[in-house]
Amino acid sequence: MGFLDKHQILERSPTLLLVATFVVISVGGIVEIAPLFYLENTIEDVEGMRPYSPLELTGRDIYIREGCYPCHSQMIRPMRDEVERYGHYSLAAESMYDHPFQWGSKRTGPDVARVGGRYSDAWHVDHLNDPQSVVPESIMPKYAFLGRTQIDGEYVQDLLETHRIVGVPYTDEMIANAQADFIVQADPDGDWDAMVARYPKAVVSNFDSAPGISEMDALVAYLQMLGTLVDFSTFTPDESR
Ligand code: HEC
Repeated sequence: MGFLDKHQILERSPTLLLVATFVVISVGGIVEIAPLFYLENTIEDVEGMRPYSPLELTGRDIYIREGCYPCHSQMIRPMRDEVERYGHYSLAAESMYDHPFQWGSKRTGPDVARVGGRYSDAWHVDHLNDPQSVVPESIMPKYAFLGRTQIDGEYVQDLLETHRIVGVPYTDEMIANAQADFIVQADPDGDWDAMVARYPKAVVSNFDSAPGISEMDALVAYLQMLGTLVDFSTFTPDESR
């Protein structure tokens, strides 16, 4: 009996073929998965990463609610054209506090992983109100209604607590001050030192330059911090892994 004849035994018995397939796939699976159990962490520690501030986290929820994600990925791949256009490729650590993450490869508009600080607050507000007023050929929808919905951070403490349940290291102090921090981030005249100490590099601004805090303020606060936490002039990848 040659080798191929022996193989016929397998091919002629669906049950045997199924069992053999299962064994082969299990071996492959174990080889891939088992080493991960011995790694303490699959995400390298990167200096500068911190949880989102209450206002940023609220903005992020609005970003998700409005479906910005299907048109804008937040994942710069390590390919030359992407790195030249958008900046340093995204690190896993940069989305370690994202629940859910905003990666993806479908881009109707540009990747926004590093859009923070690239434009002024006023540019973002004009652009969200009426994208075509800034970029005439844009197909992005208008989001002017965001500026008309006032929010007061009533539930932001619960939001932080929920993120803590899934592993974001919000401290008791951050949770206790959640609503106050939410309000002061949109008030440059306020006493925001403690908030910035809790959330280093947080941008303090009256983002939409209108009184009160609107969903527009929260969304722009979020956009303005995207990709700004890690200082890539001092970052060196950990080659020991
Ligand atoms: C239908 C697809 C679509 C949706 C949905 C969409 N955008 Fe856009 N966006 C675009 C396109 C196309 C551009 C490029 C032209 C322009 O600047 O308007 C763009 C540009 C941008 C830019 C400028 C990026 C850069 O680097 O120049 C930002 C910021 C932005 N969008 C934010 C958002 C936010 C926030 C939302 C959700 C509230 C959103 N977009 C929803 C398509 C979309």
